[in-house]
Amino acid sequence: MTKSKMFMAGAATAALLALGYVGFASVSGAALAAGDAQPMAKRVDNFRLASADLNGAYELYRMSDASAVVFLTQANGCAASAGAAQDLAKLKTAYAGKGAEFLMLNSNLKDTVDAMAAEQAKGSIPILMDRNQLAGESLNVTKSGEAIVINPKTWQIVYRGAVPTAAQLDDIVAGKAVKVAAKASGGCTIDFPARAKMADFTKISYAKEVAPIIEAKCINCHQAGSIGPMELTSYDKVKGFAPMIREVVRTSRMPPYMADPSVGHFQRDERLSPEQVKTLVHWIEAGAPRGDGADPLAAVKHVAPDWPLGKPDIILDIPAYTIPASGVVDYQRPWIKNPLTEARWLRASTIKVGARQGVHHILTGYLKDVPTGNQANESQWGSSTGKYAVGAESEINPKDIGVYLPAGGAIGFQNHYTPYGKEAVDKSQIGLYFYPKGETPSMVMHNSPIVNANIEIPPGEERYKQQAYLVFPKDALLYSAFPHAHYRGESSKLEIIYPNGERKVLLSLPKYDFNWQRDYDFAEPVKIPAGSKLLATYTYNNSKRNPANPDPKRTVPWGDQSFDEMLFTYLRYRWTDETSAKPVDYDIALKNSGMLGMFDTNLDGKIQESELTGPIGRQMKPAFAMLDANKDGALDPAEMAKMNQGGGRQARN
Ligand code: HEC
Repeated sequence: MTKSKMFMAGAATAALLALGYVGFASVSGAALAAGDAQPMAKRVDNFRLASADLNGAYELYRMSDASAVVFLTQANGCAASAGAAQDLAKLKTAYAGKGAEFLMLNSNLKDTVDAMAAEQAKGSIPILMDRNQLAGESLNVTKSGEAIVINPKTWQIVYRGAVPTAAQLDDIVAGKAVKVAAKASGGCTIDFPARAKMADFTKISYAKEVAPIIEAKCINCHQAGSIGPMELTSYDKVKGFAPMIREVVRTSRMPPYMADPSVGHFQRDERLSPEQVKTLVHWIEAGAPRGDGADPLAAVKHVAPDWPLGKPDIILDIPAYTIPASGVVDYQRPWIKNPLTEARWLRASTIKVGARQGVHHILTGYLKDVPTGNQANESQWGSSTGKYAVGAESEINPKDIGVYLPAGGAIGFQNHYTPYGKEAVDKSQIGLYFYPKGETPSMVMHNSPIVNANIEIPPGEERYKQQAYLVFPKDALLYSAFPHAHYRGESSKLEIIYPNGERKVLLSLPKYDFNWQRDYDFAEPVKIPAGSKLLATYTYNNSKRNPANPDPKRTVPWGDQSFDEMLFTYLRYRWTDETSAKPVDYDIALKNSGMLGMFDTNLDGKIQESELTGPIGRQMKPAFAMLDANKDGALDPAEMAKMNQGGGRQARN
């Protein structure tokens, strides 16, 4: 490095520190306490990170009611880190009941998700995956095996060093000075390649690096006529919102594509890679410099199209509905006559929502018989003609796959309206796109949900797990999954369990977001061999830490309304041996397997009496001995099928 370059590097670092964005230069040494003569420690910015088991995300600022948030920096294969993890586990036990949070933070780029998950499985403390290293950067992490205690009242770091004892943690929480042996120095160095180049953040090119990310991942929604509250269509606009952009990408709120970046490849993938998050955040931390080159965003006129897939072949008006200003609106189930005079194959559909704020979801389906009353229940629907839930986009069938839509009959709707403070008339529309007349796609798309209508979520629980599965009776290809829960939905995961017992995560939403529900379309359809289970695992946050929770004191059952809950992962798939010329009918068998999948928590393919929990399980329990015809102590699929035929309570929604 030449002298002048060194000077510039130093100046840039100083500028960053002055901006107040970077780290805790003032916080160092073995132990800090509020009483010490410390320069004001900076507030730790919020971050949200997924845990390595992919069963949820942890957001720092959600823990504001904790007495302390204790992080331990962790790295696999480091003896000091493993030893400190044991100390942390002991501390957690010793400190039980005192309202502190204990978490590990892995900022080590060398550790894979699988390796971190295996490590987490050894203990009971979540390992948070800091794959873009921004949390580690802001906590000034340099090595593993170091404890960092944050005071949730000020969000300042009040301690760093070896894992304290319970008595020492009491002192730290009380703001007293503590002395801890400096044994934390034994940790292993964690490499932060980007931080080492902090002086170069000012050189991140807006034109070449930042604008292309905004163009690819943000502009769709943040342009005139689209759903975002502001436009991000020029340098000045991006710079104007820079601090907010930093906040929303650090906490994974934007882009609202909730799939964890470490799982799966998807079409229409709006996720930012860890590198892209870093580029945006570091550029903003360097003051969002304009740099050289023309502004690529300003060079094009960005206006959202009326219909994102172009002009539909037909547009259906969903019957208008006046959403009241307040109260709870029952699901509306209107229908209209099917305008088709000849059968067509559906290629895609888009629902254009009218009163966006007040429309929670719209489901649509074909009805063979024109209903006699003014309501039509979805139990009579045949194929789906499209769906929308807050945040969703168009439903697109892959090449040469279609949904058959006969002529005549009717199109039914299931509309869920959520009042939002002022009366509004919703006039939503559906745009349908067909294969050209006379053209028959050779393959047929089906859909079925993984459902658990037996869920029951106790009050106050923060990460309450519920699951359900379907068993595919024949080979199939899975094209997309659409997870759905209500306000208490915290995370959602979809796994395949192959007939040989191997498991693989297909989709993980570490933070389920009620406001952003959509299809996750696999880049390549997922092969589902006959006999595989598709397992959906959800966690629910029924605590006061969930700001959207309508009532943390209530035991929450399954229900249509958003104050009740759902476990509902909608799958689109096709049967491998089916062609449009040779239809098959395996959907009944598939759906029936869901009765088993709702109760079978130990995944052994049968229902033991102890698995009959929840509202439906309790009803079945007295009949267990009678249902268990072969007296082997478990209900197998054949015994369950008998119960269904015998008019046992059906758990379909
Ligand atoms: C699918 C549409 C969509 C995409 C893609 C999207 N946004 Fe947004 N964004 C929205 C909507 C709608 C809101 C307002 C509602 C909300 O905050 O959830 C919003 C809000 C925001 C806010 C304001 C948050 C607040 O607190 O009010 C920021 C900043 C933002 N987006 C930045 C981005 C950036 C940066 C990207 C790309 C990396 C992006 N958005 C991608 C739709 C989108």
